[in-house]
Amino acid sequence: MTRRLTIAIDGPAGSGKSSVARRVAAMLGYLYLDSGAMYRALALKALRRQVALDNESRLAELAKETHIELKPPNAEQEAAGAKNCVFLDGADVTQEIRTGEVAQAASRLATIAKVRQVLVAEQQRAGGGGGVVMEGRDIGTVVFPKAELKIFLDASPEVRAERRWKEHREKGERLTLPEVFDEVIERDKRDRERKVSPLVRAADAVLVDNTAMGIEETARLVVMLAREREKELTNIGRAR
Ligand code: CDP
Ligand code: CDP
Repeated sequence: MTRRLTIAIDGPAGSGKSSVARRVAAMLGYLYLDSGAMYRALALKALRRQVALDNESRLAELAKETHIELKPPNAEQEAAGAKNCVFLDGADVTQEIRTGEVAQAASRLATIAKVRQVLVAEQQRAGGGGGVVMEGRDIGTVVFPKAELKIFLDASPEVRAERRWKEHREKGERLTLPEVFDEVIERDKRDRERKVSPLVRAADAVLVDNTAMGIEETARLVVMLAREREKELTNIGRAR
């Protein structure tokens, strides 16, 4: 039996985590989980309820009383661009969580330790069985520090902002490239500088810079690394 891995993919906004992780999971027959979607879903609920984003105790309570579920998309949803379908207290919010406003709110609540505790426990439960590709900011450092393969995915800030801007444009949103660039840089700075679980490359993560690489090429590289790890671990298991 080939060993099924836990693969952690971390990196800044627009580095290609969701696209690459989704493709890698499909190629390996693994489950794909987007941890950022959970922060976004909780942020959407906080915005809708007008909970102040600096009200730490209320936001921690909100996290505890909220049910967030990630489900694989069907063919039609996937064709429309969904990589994970996201349910907030049973309602489909897959589209609603993809706005700049929700992204900013998510990165603000993501600085709160008690909010993270709740979502991290949920992520560990969802991905605990192995055979999973989970992506986010702290997957290789905090959620699955023992993941058998860790990737730190990066790309230049200009390319990451341009990728995001194109997505907004395709959805008919009228944001300018400089506006999207500022949003991405501000969020990265908050994610990298926060005290709890900052965005940082784990010491044992493989750095993959895909500034000049496509999704397919990047995914193939990660799958190659995964196959090597699967083989290594299967052989170690046999030798025991
Ligand atoms: O999840 P993350 O924010 O890291 O990035 P993403 O949502 O996977 O990718 C952002 C956009 O960049 C998507 O529209 C991807 O299709 C695109 N992309 C790309 O053009 N080339 C890559 N190597 C990776 C992503
Ligand atoms: O898609 P993009 O890379 O722009 O962001 P995302 O992965 O959807 O995450 C939205 C926000 O959630 C990030 O800016 C982080 O502040 C937070 N997040 C986090 O703190 N830890 C994670 N494991 C995933 C996301």
